Amino acid sequence: MKIKNICCIGAGYVGGPTMAVIAQKCPDIDITVVDINENRIAAWNDEDVENIPIYEPGLSDIVKEARGRNLFFSTDVDAAIDKADMIFISVNTPTKTYGIGKGMAADLKYIELCARQIARVAKDDKIVIEKSTLPVRTAAALKNILDNTGNGVKYQILSNPEFLAEGTAVQDLLNPDRVLIGGDIDTEKGQEAVNALVDIYATWIPQENILTTNVWSSELSKLTANAFLAQRVSSINAMSELCEVTGADVGEVSRAVGKDSRIGPKFLQASVGFGGSCFQKDILNLVYISKTFGLNEVADYWEQVIIMNDHQKRRFAEKIVKTLYNTVAGKKIAILGWAFKKDTNDTRESAAIYVTDYLLNEQADIVVYDPKVNKEQVFADLEYLGTHSSEEIRERVQVLTSAMDATREAHAVAVLTEWDEFQELNWQKIYDSMLKPAFLFDGRRLLEGKSKRKIGFEYYSIGS
Ligand code: NAD
Ligand code: UGA
Repeated sequence: MKIKNICCIGAGYVGGPTMAVIAQKCPDIDITVVDINENRIAAWNDEDVENIPIYEPGLSDIVKEARGRNLFFSTDVDAAIDKADMIFISVNTPTKTYGIGKGMAADLKYIELCARQIARVAKDDKIVIEKSTLPVRTAAALKNILDNTGNGVKYQILSNPEFLAEGTAVQDLLNPDRVLIGGDIDTEKGQEAVNALVDIYATWIPQENILTTNVWSSELSKLTANAFLAQRVSSINAMSELCEVTGADVGEVSRAVGKDSRIGPKFLQASVGFGGSCFQKDILNLVYISKTFGLNEVADYWEQVIIMNDHQKRRFAEKIVKTLYNTVAGKKIAILGWAFKKDTNDTRESAAIYVTDYLLNEQADIVVYDPKVNKEQVFADLEYLGTHSSEEIRERVQVLTSAMDATREAHAVAVLTEWDEFQELNWQKIYDSMLKPAFLFDGRRLLEGKSKRKIGFEYYSIGS
């Protein structure tokens, strides 16, 4: 089966970059990425390709090459569904904020709406692909909705979870460790659908890196991969606290441990805590699923990863307060970095939000600088927590467009995102402009401590 038209529902961090790369690699397939968010689609269509809504190194060049040729962005969801042979569902699956499973389960309302829309619109057979991260067995619910329309349309449902990380999305999509495709491989039609998707990826990815499994294994592998990655960060963060009280250095520990080929060096960088839209949400989802099946020990095991991460964010903020003589009320604290990691403008679940919220509870004055995050986003992130009023946030928090301005006359500076440019700052000049003693808290182990102490900073870094 040769695919000619693809529709992707959801023009977000996954849908946008993923489809841009498929469009670049498969110029003979027409791809329409649709979204109900008109502003987002307008931004994807912006004449100046630098204004696309997602910042990822290398992405704008790919969009420039494919957009208008075989890559289109539209709000006309029905038309794109109607035309497509293959439909990717790449909508958000946030943690539920209401009802059963509140605060734990994945909210599948957007997924279900997509399924119902496809069921309503489709007139010929379609391959429907779960690109979003979903609880294991979601495909059964999708199938139920799609198969009960009575209009004779036949669907094949595949699971094709995405493993890209933000900040390296384009590289991850061009050279993935693996692509995972789950389908109904025991039936001829199911295998045919799997093959159709394999053929697309095989355009640029070696066959041996394209794994096919049954649907449930594919769905669960995605949650498992994120849980394992987050668990490594929480594990090294747990050791970072032990390092601080024993005189060990977590950088040296992770280097020594990571040299063991059975452990490996990646994801052992101690930090102020992991953020991002997925680690927490996916682990909570895993915990919820485990509890649903009565597997309480399994649930407790994974929940500890989140408990450790919350602890890490809180203890970093506490360290600032304690070090500043147990009060930060009315003191100016500069936050360098708001994104949840470098090279992205995404701030979802960023540690910076929680550290700032904690400092606001202590009545600190906050000045934020991030090279890719704007003022309104910072305010929206803090408002979303609901712990401080909009007025209070706008009174106590300033967002500036330069690190030098943000740190001027500050009592303390906290580095919360590992942007490269923070290493290049003129730290002597920053020191000179700050109140003394000048405190520097490095939540990313980004800066070289010795030279900062030599300048005169009271320098504190996670895990040392
Ligand atoms: P996102 O919020 O950036 O994008 C989702 C988009 O879907 C939004 O623009 C929203 O308007 C749109 N949408 C929602 N319902 C819709 C509907 N009914 N019709 C049309 N559009 C609709 O989310 P994201 O970060 O791209 O994540 C999407 C999924 O991919 C999630 O399940 C996430 O867990 C998973 N994932 C994300 C990443 C990542 O790095 N962000 C990586 C791997 C997997
Ligand atoms: C993560 C996974 O790495 C992707 O494979 C997955 O597709 C994605 O989640 C998803 O499902 O959304 P992402 O969250 O974009 O990707 O970024 P990561 O590089 O995994 O970083 C997550 C958080 O952990 C960041 O806050 C990062 O700073 C932190 N981190 C990561 C550490 O603190 N230490 C490390 O050693 C690694």
